[in-house]
Amino acid sequence: MKVLVVGSGAREHAIAKALDKTADVYTYMGRKNPGLADISKKYHVGDESDFSCIIKFAKDNDIKMAFIGPEAPLEKGIVDELAKEGICSVGPTKAAAQIETNKAFMRKLFEDYDIAGSIKYGTFYDMDEAFEFIDSFDEPVVVKPIGLTGGKGVKIVGDQLVDNEEAKEYVKEIFEQKMGGFEGVVIEELLVGEEYTIQAFVDGEHLVAMPAAQDHPHAFEGNKGPITGGMGSYSDTNHLLPFLSQEEYDASVEIMKETIDAIAKEAEPYKGILYGQFMITKDGPKVIEYNARFGDPESMNVLAVIDDDFAKISKQIVCGNLEDAKFENKASVCKYVVPNNYPNTEAADTILKVDEEKIKDLDAQVYYAAVYQDENDDVRLTSSRALGVLAVRDTIEEAEIACEEAIKYIEGDIYHRSDVATKELLNEKIKHMEEVRK
Ligand code: GLY
Repeated sequence: MKVLVVGSGAREHAIAKALDKTADVYTYMGRKNPGLADISKKYHVGDESDFSCIIKFAKDNDIKMAFIGPEAPLEKGIVDELAKEGICSVGPTKAAAQIETNKAFMRKLFEDYDIAGSIKYGTFYDMDEAFEFIDSFDEPVVVKPIGLTGGKGVKIVGDQLVDNEEAKEYVKEIFEQKMGGFEGVVIEELLVGEEYTIQAFVDGEHLVAMPAAQDHPHAFEGNKGPITGGMGSYSDTNHLLPFLSQEEYDASVEIMKETIDAIAKEAEPYKGILYGQFMITKDGPKVIEYNARFGDPESMNVLAVIDDDFAKISKQIVCGNLEDAKFENKASVCKYVVPNNYPNTEAADTILKVDEEKIKDLDAQVYYAAVYQDENDDVRLTSSRALGVLAVRDTIEEAEIACEEAIKYIEGDIYHRSDVATKELLNEKIKHMEEVRK
C-alpha cells in the first residue's frame, strides 16, 4: 500500500515512521525534513497549500490514500479536493475540520447537542459586546481568536494577561488584526485543574481512543514564559496519567464520541485523527479545545507505543470499518530541542549537529521538526522547534532519564526544558490535582 504524507514537521515524521513499517511512504513537504526524506520512497518539496501540485505528485506516483498532518491544509479543504480526484484521506473534510478551525462552531456544537464537558463562554463579533461580557463575568477569562493561530493565539488571565482589563486590550488587538481570520472572539471561563490530551482514530462513525498524554506548552522551565507549540510530552504505561483516573479517561472518551456524532449531524462525518485537549477539574473533564489532527509532540508519544499495523488502521479510517488499536504498556517521554531564546530566537539558519547513531545506541529516537537540510546536507535550525527526542521505557522516570542522555548528542545554539516529565514536576501536578479536588 502507498500512502502520501502531507506535512513537514516532527508529527509527520512520526506518522511516516509508523506507516513505513507496513506501507510505502511518499511525502509532500513544505521544507526538506531530513527524517521524512530518509523514510520516503519519494518526496516532493513544495507549497503545502498548492493542492494541484499535491494531487499531481499523488497521481504521478499512483497513490490513492493520503495522511494529512497539519491543520492549515485541512482548513483550506485539502481532503475535499483530493476526494474529487479519487484520493481518500486520513483527515476530516473542510466542514468537519471546523471542530478545530472555528472555535465558535465548536462551542456552539457543545451547547446545541448538550455535550458533557461544556463550559461558560460567549462568542462575539462586536467588540463592545465582548467588553460588556468580560465586565459582567466577574471571574478571570480566557480569550481565544475564533480561527487558527498556530497554537499561539489563546491568552489566559493570570498567565499571559494580568487581569480582565488586559483581556479587553487583547480582544481589541484580535478585532483590529482580524487575528485567526475572523473579526470575532470567543471568551471562556478560566478552568482550574490539569490539562491532558486524548487522541483518537475516527472513521466517520466509530472512535478508538489512544493513550492519554500531557504536553508542556510553556517555553521555559517551571511552566513559565510564552505558550509555544509544546516543549515536550509524556505518556504512561497504563495509558492514563499520574493525575488522571480510568473513570476520568473514559468520561473524556465519551465526550469525544458525543462530539463526532454531533459533527456528523451538524457538518459531515468526521474521518481522521481527533485530538481532545481536556482539563480535569473538580467537576470532571472539560474540553478546552479540539484539534482535527495529531498533536505535536503528543503524536510521537502514542505512535512510538502503537502495537498494531498503523497503515491498516489508516485504511480502516478511510473505509469506515475501524475496529481496534493496540498499544504497548510502556511509558514514553518526548522533549523538544528548540533554538536558544525560542520563540524570539536569533539562532535560525545555524547548523545543528545530531549524532543519530549514538542516540540510536541509547535506544532513543529523533523526530525532525522545523529544520531544513541545505545543499551540503547540513541540518540547519529555523526559528521554530527543531526536533523531538523520544524514549520509551517501563516507567516515565526511566524514559525521562534516557531522553536527557540522548539530548547530550545534539549540538548547536539550542535549548530544551530539562524539567519536562521529571519526577518533581509530576509530583507537583499530582499535588495540584489533590488541592483542586478538595
Ligand atoms: N500539543 C499541542 C498541539 O498539537 O496543538
